[in-house]
Amino acid sequence: MRITRRRVLVGGAALGALSLVGGCDDGGKAPADTGDTGGVPATPVRAAEPDAWVPDGTEDTEAFAWGVQVGDATPSGALVSFRTTEAAVSVVLVAADGDGWVEVDRVEGLTPDVEVVQLAFEGLAADTAYSVVAYAADGARRSPVTRFRTALPADGYRVVTFGATSCLRDNAPWPALSHAAAEKLDFFCLLGDTVYADAGDYEGSWVTALSTAGLRDVTASTSILATWDDHEVANNYSFDEPGIEEKFVAGLAAFRRALPQGRGPGGTGIWRKLAWGTVLEVFALDCRGERRDGNYISPEQMAWLKAELSASTARFKILLNSVPITDLSDIFGPAELDDRWEGHPDQRADILGHIRDNAIPGVLWISGDVHYAQIGRVDPAGGVGEDQWEVFVGPGGSTPNYLVEAYVGSEQYSMMFAKWNFARFTCDPGLGTIHVAYVGDDGAELATMTLSV
Ligand SMILES: [Fe+2]
Repeated sequence: MRITRRRVLVGGAALGALSLVGGCDDGGKAPADTGDTGGVPATPVRAAEPDAWVPDGTEDTEAFAWGVQVGDATPSGALVSFRTTEAAVSVVLVAADGDGWVEVDRVEGLTPDVEVVQLAFEGLAADTAYSVVAYAADGARRSPVTRFRTALPADGYRVVTFGATSCLRDNAPWPALSHAAAEKLDFFCLLGDTVYADAGDYEGSWVTALSTAGLRDVTASTSILATWDDHEVANNYSFDEPGIEEKFVAGLAAFRRALPQGRGPGGTGIWRKLAWGTVLEVFALDCRGERRDGNYISPEQMAWLKAELSASTARFKILLNSVPITDLSDIFGPAELDDRWEGHPDQRADILGHIRDNAIPGVLWISGDVHYAQIGRVDPAGGVGEDQWEVFVGPGGSTPNYLVEAYVGSEQYSMMFAKWNFARFTCDPGLGTIHVAYVGDDGAELATMTLSV
């Protein structure tokens, strides 16, 4: 039944529903919630979770001011990282069990490495809610609780919902992220410029960011999948600059101490893939840390990306891309061209052509960096990426790029606005749709659009 339904929809319009503030035509609901399934059973949705776990002890907002971060959830595990001023701590992990929570692991005697503890949980159950908390040695004072969810099993099939944003410079405490936290998403993507550490205080920049309510809230609500952009090291840095290698090493180390993240198969280790059953694979790209020898990404990363996209059987392939790959020349002209895929036309054509020529279905580019929201096609009509879509997310905190509001749109772009936001992506493999909803600092939906990809 699902296959039949999918075939019907693939032949339909690429753009299902478009709505903006004041004209929301679908109530912002996910496709699976609309009841409009043409008589076909709706795609399964996530099982309900218990109410938030309330562990014993008292929350110590000074010793654990930065919360507990969980990253790179897989079907059987997740990585944990947190900062504390305590000399020794323990960690307790509980799993959802009916209407409550049951303890499944307890790690005692952890000693922070310069105030940071990192560990990995393995052997977890797939598509299951967990919560984790850290305790001081006295067993009485504790961190806030972080809830997360393991990924779907390899054959898992249901609606998957994740969030994403970028660029957290100004406007603290980043209220949109606190609204994202309330949704208990399956996972949340940070697309770079999460910190603006240009002055070189890498550790301090992350210490400030993680103790800011919006980021602390969202990292307490779900697992994080992060990549980076330039400001985690230095504004618009080049590896030709003297002294940049030392900054790069320090920036990368601080990034990894702050946000737990797995290591990919090569290069900086930032480019990596995470799977959520048959529904989607997320490809976190590193478009910043391998910009050497005239390349935008290393040949190794490019070969990996092309091979993995070709091999993927997931319904959706989500490409996390810190700076847009969209041809923005009619908006920005040649300004900072070298900072975008557009400044590296051979590699840009290589990956877009690979997706087009191999008719790889379900591809969606997601990017940040430019400080405004946009949904549009990667290229204007006739371009190699004319059938591919890109969604710009954020800024979550950086001052929006209000200049784009003066732009008179072209058919390439379906939506464009400058407001603080995170974006929610509701991926329905039965309908073959990704419903995108931008949520603003007041928690209201700013705009929605449903893409069939
Ligand atoms: Fe930025």
